[in-house]
Amino acid sequence: MDRYAVVGNPIAHSRSPQIHAAFARQTGQALRYDALLAPVDGFARTVADFRARGGRGLNVTVPFKLEAFALATRRTPRAEMAGAVNTLAFEADAILGDNTDGAGLVRDLEGNLGFALAGCRILLLGAGGACRGALLPLLASQPAALTIANRSVAKAAALAALFAPEAGAASLDACGFDALAGRRFDLVINATSASLSGALPPLPPGLYAEGALAYDMMYGRGDTPFMAAARADGAARIADGLGMLVEQAAESFALWRGVRPDTAAVLAELRRQIDGG
Ligand code: ATR
Repeated sequence: MDRYAVVGNPIAHSRSPQIHAAFARQTGQALRYDALLAPVDGFARTVADFRARGGRGLNVTVPFKLEAFALATRRTPRAEMAGAVNTLAFEADAILGDNTDGAGLVRDLEGNLGFALAGCRILLLGAGGACRGALLPLLASQPAALTIANRSVAKAAALAALFAPEAGAASLDACGFDALAGRRFDLVINATSASLSGALPPLPPGLYAEGALAYDMMYGRGDTPFMAAARADGAARIADGLGMLVEQAAESFALWRGVRPDTAAVLAELRRQIDGG
């Protein structure tokens, strides 16, 4: 049976085995998908072992996405721009590295949430790996404007400069959180890791335009601090990142197997489990 896995540290909490098992059942693909714990200093060795045992592909999560980028011998353009790899596919004489995170975000926004990105004003919070991975797919969706805001402004400015050639007709700018005062957006995406520590980017009030969506890449039971703050600040719609998780998995599955799973039922089941405890 073809073998796949998600590799990370820690990894026990990962939902990926359950998601991919559901995709395999649904599409009639015979495969096995496990969770692999790699030592923090043993990523390349863990990957080589898995490949030697007949592994066909890996999803890669914290803290190994940069190492996966380096390990790939061939990379998709979206992985190159993301500067990180979350999907490896083992080919006869190559290791293909892809990044499906940003595409998963866009599919969740447009497909699951019915949010039209074309022509809208986007605020992206953060300037780390999660933000960088989202930029190319977001810009490809032809927003009117995209603002990157970060605690350290220099990192946001560097990302805006890096992605300027990809902006097309969109206006792309960078600033700190203070400079957001008085500005309004149709979509605000939290790509900071602040929620992990129960913290919140210090955002001025009044960011949300009429009908605006607040989107946190994190998920969990109930609202994250960012989602609660967005609700209080008048965002019309609020979403967490569970749909992004399922959609990035579907992108990886499609790359490996050449079949695109239907995500709706899988996302609904996961939502039931998380909300139900
Ligand atoms: P990831 O891969 O999840 O993006 P990262 O590369 O470490 O992780 O980036 C973390 C991001 O969250 C950064 O943009 C960081 O801001 P700085 O660049 O200024 O450090 C942001 N971040 C983390 N904690 C935060 C907090 N409490 N408030 C605001 N931003 C925070």
